[in-house]
Amino acid sequence: MRKGILFDLDGVLVSTDRLHYLAWKRLADELGIAGFTEEDNEKQRGVSRMESLAVVLAKGGKRYSEEEKLVLADKKNGYYRELLETLDESALLANVPQTLRQLRADGYKMAIGSVSKNAPVILEKTGIAGLVDAVSCGLDITKSKPDPEVFLVAAKKLGLAPEQCLVVEDAAAGITAAKRGGMASLGVGPYYETLGGDFCARSLAEPIDWKRIMES
Ligand code: BG6
Ligand code: MG
Repeated sequence: MRKGILFDLDGVLVSTDRLHYLAWKRLADELGIAGFTEEDNEKQRGVSRMESLAVVLAKGGKRYSEEEKLVLADKKNGYYRELLETLDESALLANVPQTLRQLRADGYKMAIGSVSKNAPVILEKTGIAGLVDAVSCGLDITKSKPDPEVFLVAAKKLGLAPEQCLVVEDAAAGITAAKRGGMASLGVGPYYETLGGDFCARSLAEPIDWKRIMES
């Protein structure tokens, strides 16, 4: 029986995926990369900051050195942090605090499994830091999803084996990470039907039979 639930953050609990897009778009505009669209932004879902930068730069014709790329990624993060300044609980997706409270009352352990290095500040600003038992984020890992590292660290922080955990994800990279880590997965978000999770639901606002999922 599964005892732990590992939640991705951006696009699962909070609507920060939109803010990532706006920050990347600002950088793209500055670099004169006109072709970066919301469709390209979908390829950035769940992958690391540097891989996300590669998606933007692939739309322009110019080559950049590794040092220049680091400066650009840092610049985008500055724009993103500016947007995060105004973040509050209104950025939480529908039914999130209620779901976390109910799952805790039902006796499940919960952790965040996000490759974002901004995860701690997002959790604090949206007021859900205290609703989870552990956080595994970009600051804890060296390999991004689809590598399972961030979820393996999360399971370890909860004191659980991977097979005792369910991953909740909105990105294909995250579902692959769960599978590689030996964990079951629940796909949510705009692409929930095609992510390849063991279970799926449009969002946490849908009626989800957690007991059935955790006991299956
Ligand atoms: C993931 C997002 O949660 O975090 C990605 O889905 C993002 O789009 C990644 O690139 C890294 O985030 P950050 O906040 O460390 O730049
Ligand atoms: Mg996500």
